[in-house]
Amino acid sequence: MKNVESFVMTPTLFDQREKRRSLLFSHTWRELIPQVFEDVPKYYRFGNIVASFGFWELWVWQFVRTIELKPGYKVLDVCAGTNDIGIRLLQKQPGLDVTAIDRSREMQVEGQNRAKDYGVRIKSVIHDVHELPFPDNSFDVITLQAASRHLQLNRVLPEIIRVLKPGGHFYHCDMLKPSNRFIEMAYLRFLRLSVAWTALIFGSTEASRNCHDYFMDAIANFYTPEELSEILRMVGFVNVSCGKSIWGGMVGFHKAQRSMETGNRQAELSPSP
Ligand SMILES: C[S@@+](CC[C@H](N)C(=O)[O-])C[C@H]1O[C@@H](n2cnc3c(N)ncnc32)[C@H](O)[C@@H]1O
Repeated sequence: MKNVESFVMTPTLFDQREKRRSLLFSHTWRELIPQVFEDVPKYYRFGNIVASFGFWELWVWQFVRTIELKPGYKVLDVCAGTNDIGIRLLQKQPGLDVTAIDRSREMQVEGQNRAKDYGVRIKSVIHDVHELPFPDNSFDVITLQAASRHLQLNRVLPEIIRVLKPGGHFYHCDMLKPSNRFIEMAYLRFLRLSVAWTALIFGSTEASRNCHDYFMDAIANFYTPEELSEILRMVGFVNVSCGKSIWGGMVGFHKAQRSMETGNRQAELSPSP
């Protein structure tokens, strides 16, 4: 039987779900996640490969493959971390003007070192992405990878629309809540195992230990690929597609476009304080 709830998303339900996520996780997002990312920059990429039993590289490669680029495009990588996405985009299309934004100075220092090693230039902005410090209509392409579980989407998505140029594209990739309950249960067990296994190999800080259950809870309270598609339409994106979603939506790849018209429907949503 289809999980009907996963296909129904209204502005009211979105607002309720975001309020619930904030209530559950705002302390973790504000206090613990910044401490976790202070510690991980050096082994971030290798840690992800170990935690995903090698699938991480495949997911990133698949994501970057979906992104359409032209020389001269202005690109913003939101929650850019170690600049993994920006570097790969510049390898794909060297004529881009790429800006990275992330709250973690440590992740961005590692990102700048990596960009230098790869011989590419990426501008770096250290800032909380719930407010994007850029003028309206600034970017042709915006990417957000492996971070939206840690964000208030009802604040970030309208900001992304605002700074995208009319007709510009938003590409999103993250671990999502699988639409199928059985896959979700297996997935959450797999995550528990992978968090323990990664901590064993790399050691774990107090902040990471305090986040042990969060990584599972964040997925359990997140959105399915279908719900995320609906949310993207609700906040005002057009031409929303979820082209790839591996194994029942464990990882989803969304593409969405800002309408050519300058107005959008974001006013219909009332972001939670
Ligand atoms: C799992 S990492 C992904 C990084 C990046 N996409 C990569 O592949 O290297 C998540 C990133 O989101 C950042 N982040 C989380 N919450 C944030 C916020 N509110 N504002 C800015 N950055 C945030 C963290 O600092 C971290 O670098």
